[in-house]
Amino acid sequence: PLFVKSWVFIRGVPAMKFLPPEGPLEVAFAGRSNVGKSSLINALVGHKGLARTSNTPGRTQELNYFVPDGYTGEEGNLPPMALVDMPGYGYAQAPKEHVDAWTKLVFDYLRGRATLKRVYVLIDSRHGIKKNDDEVLSLLDKAAVSYQIVLTKTDKIKEAGVPRLISETLEKIRKRPAAFPEVIATSSEKGKGLDELRHAIAETVGY
Ligand code: GTP
Ligand code: MG
Repeated sequence: PLFVKSWVFIRGVPAMKFLPPEGPLEVAFAGRSNVGKSSLINALVGHKGLARTSNTPGRTQELNYFVPDGYTGEEGNLPPMALVDMPGYGYAQAPKEHVDAWTKLVFDYLRGRATLKRVYVLIDSRHGIKKNDDEVLSLLDKAAVSYQIVLTKTDKIKEAGVPRLISETLEKIRKRPAAFPEVIATSSEKGKGLDELRHAIAETVGY
């Protein structure tokens, strides 16, 4: 698992004004609806039911904060770092005002959180980088927020195709200034790429 034996959920944030006090370094997981953000967090920390997952896109509707067990996230008991599971973008089936609210929250958070150390932008191996992913990458470049691409669900494509997908993805982000120049291929289902991602996170936050 990641750093400690157990992680806990401390807060769901439906709007910017409910964010916990800034302090701990934050690592966020962003991506289109259903790409596998919540599943990846669960796989990383080795706790299946921690972040809620679902077959239906639009499961995660708030910024969900996870921290090492023993911390509350309140002033005086701040954790050394936090993992942030984000609502997905690009899901058109929900009521428009909901989608607009989540999208605003995601964009405001990505742009305006000083303690956000790294964003892992998840891309479904079967679909690659789509237009709305590109918009998010551009926003992160503009805000100078460091991010790294993580390919998800590699168990759904041929294993032999993974290296090519990685190099194609690298080529697409080559000129993006805030992109970390390595792509990690993962499968939460099969446990692939998780140690590589754990090391990347450890290096990022120094925890
Ligand atoms: P939202 O919260 O709705 O934005 O979705 P999410 O990105 O958090 O996705 P979630 O983790 O809920 O997973 C969506 C679906 O993909 C679920 O049915 C998962 O079981 C499935 N899934 C996630 N990761 C993998 C994987 O590595 N392999 C396979 N085959 N399925 C996966
Ligand atoms: Mg989710």
